[in-house]
Amino acid sequence: MDFKNKVVLITGASSGIGRESATAFAKLGADIILVSRTKEKLEQVADELKKFNVTTLVCQCDVSKKDQVKEMSRIVLEKFNSVDILVNNAGFAIYGSVSDLSIDDIESQMETNYFGMVYCTKYFLPSMLDKKSGHIVNVASVAASFGLPGIAPYCASKFAMLGFSEGLKHELKNSGVGITVVSPIMVRTNFFEHPSFEKMPKFSPTSLSSKTVAKAILRAANSQRLEIIVPSLVRAAVWMKNTFPYFINPILGMAFKKQPGSAKKD
Ligand SMILES: NC(=O)c1ccc[n+]([C@@H]2O[C@H](COP(=O)([O-])OP(=O)(O)OC[C@H]3O[C@@H](n4cnc5c(N)ncnc54)[C@H](OP(=O)(O)O)[C@@H]3O)[C@@H](O)[C@H]2O)c1
Repeated sequence: MDFKNKVVLITGASSGIGRESATAFAKLGADIILVSRTKEKLEQVADELKKFNVTTLVCQCDVSKKDQVKEMSRIVLEKFNSVDILVNNAGFAIYGSVSDLSIDDIESQMETNYFGMVYCTKYFLPSMLDKKSGHIVNVASVAASFGLPGIAPYCASKFAMLGFSEGLKHELKNSGVGITVVSPIMVRTNFFEHPSFEKMPKFSPTSLSSKTVAKAILRAANSQRLEIIVPSLVRAAVWMKNTFPYFINPILGMAFKKQPGSAKKD
């Protein structure tokens, strides 16, 4: 796909996968709307993108707040009329067992990772449907296919994202608008800087660079597929788990069971 002069909106663009994706799209000549809660970091990213001679717009917005997403979409649509590619990437996890995490901890992950994606989709999809073109890329995780100990609420938010995307994909048939989920394994980003991850080993030797995931996001923006798992080999593990859950789930449970870091109770 030719991304030149396409309008790409990326949530969570201030860091990690979102930031790398912004660079990857800008290199190909796309105009970039950078969205996150931290204006200063977004302005730094926008500065870095200047060398590609593309238009950028910095939007400070907490995607878990629907009023903020509504206002952000108003500003964006006023300037660009519509977005061609919406990358719902903002997200985070709090590590801890369900019995240790507070209800607020659990709700906050769903609010950002799932509802943040829903709000952005609701506010930008109508302009895509009007134009009969566009693509939504939802950044989930392999945690959308495996319920893992220590990150159960995070897994729930990503399962929800995948289910929503699958249903919406059917609804969008023949509309000209596409939707694809990108599901990576562990990626070396600030994601693990959350204090709850203190007791976890930081990165596994098989973890990915955010550049690898950004490439998958670029592919996803022009894909007919529902889900792109990164690396693709992990698709076999998802198939195994869905086909032989009674065999695979106990192994996964043992492999991932670590002492979750202490988290406050309600
Ligand atoms: N790292 C991994 O191992 C991994 C693996 C699979 C999937 N993922 C997914 O990849 C996505 C990006 O994560 P990352 O690894 O790049 O982590 P990261 O470096 O921590 O980046 C997270 C981004 O999300 C933004 N964000 C968080 N909460 C937000 C909110 N309420 N509203 C707006 N923006 C918000 C952050 O910006 P501000 O703080 O400025 O708001 C930041 O730009 C997430 O959805 C994550 O679940 C990560």
